[in-house]
Amino acid sequence: MIILKNIYYQYDSKVVLNDIHLSIKQKERIVILGINGCGKTTLLKILNALIFPQKGSYTYNDVLITEKKIREKDFSRRFRREVVLLFQNPDVMLFNPTVYDEIAFSLRQLQLNENEVKDRVLYWANLFELTSFLDLPPFKLSGGQKQKLCLACLLAIEPKFLLLDEPTANLDPKTSGWLIDLLYDLQIATVVTTHNISLAPELGERLIVMGENHRIIYDGPTMQFLNDKEKMLAAGLLHKHRHRHGNVEHSHYHFHDF
Ligand SMILES: Nc1ncnc2c1ncn2[C@@H]1O[C@H](COP(=O)(O)OP(=O)(O)OP(=O)(O)O)[C@@H](O)[C@H]1O
Ligand SMILES: [Mg+2]
Repeated sequence: MIILKNIYYQYDSKVVLNDIHLSIKQKERIVILGINGCGKTTLLKILNALIFPQKGSYTYNDVLITEKKIREKDFSRRFRREVVLLFQNPDVMLFNPTVYDEIAFSLRQLQLNENEVKDRVLYWANLFELTSFLDLPPFKLSGGQKQKLCLACLLAIEPKFLLLDEPTANLDPKTSGWLIDLLYDLQIATVVTTHNISLAPELGERLIVMGENHRIIYDGPTMQFLNDKEKMLAAGLLHKHRHRHGNVEHSHYHFHDF
């Protein structure tokens, strides 16, 4: 179980996470919404122990996560296997010569023998429709294919907490639907950021909304928030347009589906 208490994070003098309290249980499905720059990616990086808050505490299964703790090899190996992050820009994760090696790299860290590695690479490549690319260098894939490859690499090590930073941003509607089904079937905790509000209810029953003030301004059932126009407006997630048709002025609301 993940517990964040009273987390503050600032880059230089700019506060980007303000008094964050958040617990995440095994197998929970959480979706995070919030306008650009409110701190979603920063929050996921803290959960992944890539950066460490200046104030507050992060405990993972009762272990206090600090820079020092993460430097302990045994702990780090276990933590990195259990809590994984799909980056907003998947390119930064890919560095192996071929798609095969990219997936195999994750598996070799589990100290499997090469036959097991091969079986699992073929299984994940097939599931992610990447089989025909196995011998290609990852940079030859499209943006969406790279994203799928990164996700295959992460799932291959069977994590317990999967953090995804705008996973549908590079995906076409059909592939987004496929990803949502895949995530739904996983028996692990998922924490997903998105700007696609219409997908939010499918990505998680529990919604966290981050405000312009870099605080959590809502934590509760997803649909309850999405049905509340006032709350949506306050969070900057609903946008009011004014139009003039002939002499009649009227206004209507738009989701910010970027
Ligand atoms: N490495 C960095 N150095 C300095 N400031 C940073 C850095 N990374 C992010 N920031 C700032 O921190 C704030 C929060 O950034 P973050 O990436 O967490 O936002 P976000 O909610 O993920 O936004 P988006 O929806 O655009 O992805 C932004 O104002 C950003 O400019
Ligand atoms: Mg972001």
